[in-house]
Amino acid sequence: MSVHAATGRRLTLGDLAAKKAAGEKLVMVTAYDHPGAQIAEAAGVDIVLVGDSAAMTVLGYDSTVPVTVDEMIMLTAAVRRGLRTPLLVADLPFGSYEASDEQAIATAQRFVKETGCDLVKIERGGTSIDRARALVAAGIPVVGHVGLTPQTATSLGGYRAQGRTAAAARQLIEDAVALQDAGCSMLVVEAVPSDVTAALMPHLAIPVIGIGAGPDADGQVLVFHDLLGLYDGPAAKFVKRYADLRTAAIAGIAAYADEVRSGAYPAPEHGYGMPEAEAARLRTATAG
Ligand code: KIV
Repeated sequence: MSVHAATGRRLTLGDLAAKKAAGEKLVMVTAYDHPGAQIAEAAGVDIVLVGDSAAMTVLGYDSTVPVTVDEMIMLTAAVRRGLRTPLLVADLPFGSYEASDEQAIATAQRFVKETGCDLVKIERGGTSIDRARALVAAGIPVVGHVGLTPQTATSLGGYRAQGRTAAAARQLIEDAVALQDAGCSMLVVEAVPSDVTAALMPHLAIPVIGIGAGPDADGQVLVFHDLLGLYDGPAAKFVKRYADLRTAAIAGIAAYADEVRSGAYPAPEHGYGMPEAEAARLRTATAG
């Protein structure tokens, strides 16, 4: 039984550290709205991420780049209202934190104040290491994200695995360690060879959550719409579908449409009645 299932309270970073120390795998899933959050809560996950993958999964953009702070804040606040026990992480969108420490702090403070998220996530090493340090100094817990960083996928050569040469893998490990040293509470590692994650793990004391990063990470994250089969598009190699909700949803709406068109829905039990005396008065009053 997980800590939060046992206690019914919100998980803390200390709980995650204890799970890592005990070798218990951490479960993270994305969510973008209130029902999604309630489903993640009921499934007993440890961490919910309002990823900027929302741009594609629920807002219909063709990459994560266009999503705005206001859009992410609205989605994150809805998720917060549906969660009780998992930790809530919110992605800071592209363009909302990179320019300066001041910009990063102002954006992250908006997320914390307006959504109630527990941590914010930022992508990349490089200047993001300075941003992470500034956010932590301002009292905001941070999740780093290395490997494939979709906000800057174009400069990485597209949506492809990272760290596939020894030199690139060394740089990735250096970035990860620097993010830890900057005070990050957790790290997401996306789309890197399993060997790279295995080489990385001994260097990190903070929980490492993998996605397409092999089995050695402390936990795994998948996108809600991918794992439930809700997303109509090509899936990354690392996606495993655990349900086919899109097919079930289409079948449900098609059955509804058939019944509306045939008149089978609504049936008498779906309607409201009125006292017979009132119905009689109505008939008299409206008789032509
Ligand atoms: O935006 C997102 O959903 C993410 C996860 C894939 C880690 O960053």
